[in-house]
Amino acid sequence: MADVSIKGLQKYYGAVHALKGIDLAIGDGEFVVFVGPSGCGKSTLLRSIAGLEEIDGGEIAIGGKVVNELRPRDRNIAMVFQNYALYPYLSVYDNIAFGLRARKVAEAEITRRVDEAAAMLGITPLLQRLPRQLSGGQRQRVAIGRAIVRQAQLFLFDEPLSNLDAKLRDEMRGEIKRLHKDISTTMIYVTHDQVEAMTLADRIVLLRDGRIEQQGAPLDLFDRPATGFVASFLGSPSINLLPARLVTRGAERAVVLESGAQLELPASRRIDDGQPEQAILLGVRPQHLGRAGPGAQAPGVVRVSVTADLVQPTGTRTYVTARIGGAEVTAELGAHDVPELNTPLDFALDMNRCVLIDPATDKVL
Ligand SMILES: Nc1ncnc2c1ncn2[C@@H]1O[C@H](COP(=O)(O)OP(=O)(O)OP(=O)(O)O)[C@@H](O)[C@H]1O
Ligand SMILES: [Mg+2]
Repeated sequence: MADVSIKGLQKYYGAVHALKGIDLAIGDGEFVVFVGPSGCGKSTLLRSIAGLEEIDGGEIAIGGKVVNELRPRDRNIAMVFQNYALYPYLSVYDNIAFGLRARKVAEAEITRRVDEAAAMLGITPLLQRLPRQLSGGQRQRVAIGRAIVRQAQLFLFDEPLSNLDAKLRDEMRGEIKRLHKDISTTMIYVTHDQVEAMTLADRIVLLRDGRIEQQGAPLDLFDRPATGFVASFLGSPSINLLPARLVTRGAERAVVLESGAQLELPASRRIDDGQPEQAILLGVRPQHLGRAGPGAQAPGVVRVSVTADLVQPTGTRTYVTARIGGAEVTAELGAHDVPELNTPLDFALDMNRCVLIDPATDKVL
């Protein structure tokens, strides 16, 4: 087990500035997920920690020891990639044992570690099979087994589940989380899948264009995004963004939509750096836009009349798309609440949970 400390990390590929000064501290035993859009530098950062990329500036320390000059094999790291190559002519047992044999570990110790890892991953009955006799998920488990027996101080995963179908991915995600609970080794996991990031991470590090945009506990990032980029990246369906103006009249604050509709901002939503009137984007998650009940709404919840353009039942929720003040929005209704198309209905918009974004800077107010 080990902590990881990264300071001022820079990486160029020719003219491409892939990492633009990364500062990051990862605690011993922590499960950290790097997430962000394609090309933002997730794999480059992970590979730099592993020693597979030469870095152009800064420092990486693992377990208190600077590893800049250390070869990958001397960093005591185990990696699992998306394209894990198993040896096709070796049995599952021999695939898992391969790295240990190369390191001249005693055969009795190899047997003990392989059996233990196989039991942990539920692949004991498969140990004598060849890789081609396994399903995709079973092969993925063998790749993880190879990493476990190394007893490395740090585990690195780069999109290990992206080749699997959706159901298997959910299952393996749970197993990786359980594995972390069992062995408590520090883990860093790269994905562009925000659901994977939310469910696995102790802490999410959200990257954008070679920089850390925001980091924190999953629900903190979800509830308190620092920028519109973070607000839009996390959550499915995506947060609704409505062009509006924030208007201050004495002690009162209101959000005025393009249609002219005024939405009072509850006193709980204090904003200190506001001007008398400024352009904003009103961010409302589909989960905070539901069907309005009869009568008065709860404090800070406003009623908005819409007509449904699109209705998508999923079995667990129904997503309804409609227009509010010229902007298209999606609301989340109950599974069996399936409104007719083109009929008027009232949404309840929870202003207590909204985010206000300055469109000029992308910063959340
Ligand atoms: N070997 C390379 N040569 C040149 N440019 C590279 C190389 N590897 C990565 N890059 C560039 O560096 C940037 C970061 O790439 P990286 O692979 O780290 O992205 P990523 O966040 O892992 O994306 P993805 O989600 O698509 O895997 C991209 O602009 C990419 O094109
Ligand atoms: Mg990548």
